[in-house]
Amino acid sequence: MPAYSEIVLDHYQNPRNLGEIENADAVAEVENPVCGDRARLSIRLSDGRIAEARFLAEGCPAAIAAASMTTVLLTGMTVGEALALRDTDVAQALGGLPPNKVHCSVLAEEVIQAALARYVPPVTAVP
Ligand code: FES
Repeated sequence: MPAYSEIVLDHYQNPRNLGEIENADAVAEVENPVCGDRARLSIRLSDGRIAEARFLAEGCPAAIAAASMTTVLLTGMTVGEALALRDTDVAQALGGLPPNKVHCSVLAEEVIQAALARYVPPVTAVP
């Protein structure tokens, strides 16, 4: 196994926010075409902020840890902040990834972008 940081191993062994949100406001699933690893993200928004984020993932330890860390980072963010979150931010929060595993955090960025691209904010009724 590549040399993973303590944070990666912790998130891999004790994934945070595992599962799926029922009636989520935004959902997406992405797959890495090279290795076939997959991540699914569901998000619940409240007052323009991410109130809850949950993930399901199939893949290597780095991909699972990145998906887990992504849900932690997303919680409390505005949609704009979430869209600005890059794979490098996720990798940095994980204490770095081994050189041959850097691409695994890209799955996290892609799934955020895919989920929020389909999010349509509720229209506020004009009195
Ligand atoms: Fe596929 Fe890590 S090897 S995402």
